[in-house]
Amino acid sequence: MMMSVTGATLLDAIRARRARAGVVGLGYVGLPLAVELARAGFTTTGIDLDANKVAAVNAGRSYIDDVPTAEVAALHAAGRLKATTTFDAVADLDTINICVPTPLGKAKDPDLSFVVAAAEEVAKRLHPGMLIVLESTTYPGTTDELVLPILERSGLEVGRDFFLAFSPERVDPGNKQFNTANVPKVIGGVSPDCTALAAELYGAAIETIVPVSSPRVAEMVKLLENTFRAVNIGLVNELALMCDRMSIDVWEVVRAAATKPFGFMPFYPGPGLGGHCIPIDPFYLSWKARQSGFEARFIELAGTVNGAMPHYVVSLVSDALNSVRKPLNGSRVLVAGVAYKRDVDDIRESPALDVLSLLHARGAHLSYTDPHVPRLSGHLWPQGMDLEHVDLQTCSPGTIDCAVVVTDHSGCDYDLLQRVATVVVDTRNAIKNPGANVMRLGAPRHGVAMSETV
Ligand SMILES: NC(=O)c1ccc[n+]([C@@H]2O[C@H](COP(=O)([O-])OP(=O)(O)OC[C@H]3O[C@@H](n4cnc5c(N)ncnc54)[C@H](O)[C@@H]3O)[C@@H](O)[C@H]2O)c1
Repeated sequence: MMMSVTGATLLDAIRARRARAGVVGLGYVGLPLAVELARAGFTTTGIDLDANKVAAVNAGRSYIDDVPTAEVAALHAAGRLKATTTFDAVADLDTINICVPTPLGKAKDPDLSFVVAAAEEVAKRLHPGMLIVLESTTYPGTTDELVLPILERSGLEVGRDFFLAFSPERVDPGNKQFNTANVPKVIGGVSPDCTALAAELYGAAIETIVPVSSPRVAEMVKLLENTFRAVNIGLVNELALMCDRMSIDVWEVVRAAATKPFGFMPFYPGPGLGGHCIPIDPFYLSWKARQSGFEARFIELAGTVNGAMPHYVVSLVSDALNSVRKPLNGSRVLVAGVAYKRDVDDIRESPALDVLSLLHARGAHLSYTDPHVPRLSGHLWPQGMDLEHVDLQTCSPGTIDCAVVVTDHSGCDYDLLQRVATVVVDTRNAIKNPGANVMRLGAPRHGVAMSETV
């Protein structure tokens, strides 16, 4: 079947870079995408409710580590990238990528309120010849069952008057090798023309395009990827607990297993899951599966194992302090690294927040060091208190009873950490030359536990 005249006109506009691109939600996903689209030659407008982000873009400034300010400044100066807080801009746009948050509600069910709000605003201004692509991670069926009916309220027909697709974002913040432009992009349109138009748009900015047959497939692809990680991290976390009991070094086991050139992929244990994706996305899938009467057992089990890791970390801190005859209650405990992963400033869902909360509930006197996170608001963790990053250089030896490495930032001075703290718990195998006062998660307790027995 031939593409509609409206579709063909849009296709030409995309090919000629005359199409005016829009990105709704200028966060970790949206800003890099807007920059790539602008770099590819599209005049790009970002729409975000956060006036600070909009002001930053319009001042030519980046607020995302992976996006250089020089790039935003150059694109803004060239008139190819700007931002606004109002959806009125939609009236002048041809394409829109929706990159708003998809968190979990209190009962761990999907909170699609941001997607609905954005789609409703777009629907009010939807005009013939527009391509809308949802990028927010969500359960299979969201594009067809939730977004499409909202857009159809405009009276326009999908596949003929306007075009709709889902394309999951796979960005890995902090990854120096892979970025928005060189990670293959999966695209599933509501109709073949929807897929073709979205492929044309992304193809201008992204090296490899992977078309699939429907939005549902594309939605499921993303959830498979993230569930794969959550389940494998759950497996290796369980192995770490097992190794602790059996006095085997789980890190050595994984390292040696990873020498197998096929059929094995290393995952590493740690203090629990963090970030906006891995702890959340699998529950979107299990929630949706439950609607079809299907229990996603691997997802639930991985969630239970991974969710218990902060408790295990606190038990290690308690054991480490016990080895120097100190109770957790009243001890000075420093958390090293509070961002959810190495060398990023993002603290969303960080296991450090759970660790802090559990330590606080047990009476520990808390501090943290993390140059990526200058301040930690008490609102972020239950019964939390405002804390500020402590520079280890300012700490005298012995001023900390126990330091616990929760995030292995590359800039951390672990020799210094071992000097300032009486005992250290390393949940990431970050310390390359651990002294006798270091206890590692999932490894034999040669030093700490045995040296101080009475
Ligand atoms: N961060 C990642 O590494 C990553 C990776 C892959 C996929 N994702 C997915 O991408 C989506 C966005 O994630 P993120 O990390 O960029 O989130 P983010 O919180 O960094 O950014 C979202 C932005 O959307 C804005 N926003 C919220 N509601 C809005 C609305 N109604 N209209 C306009 N703007 C609105 C917010 O102000 C914010 O700036 C989520 O579904 C997430 O799961 C994130």
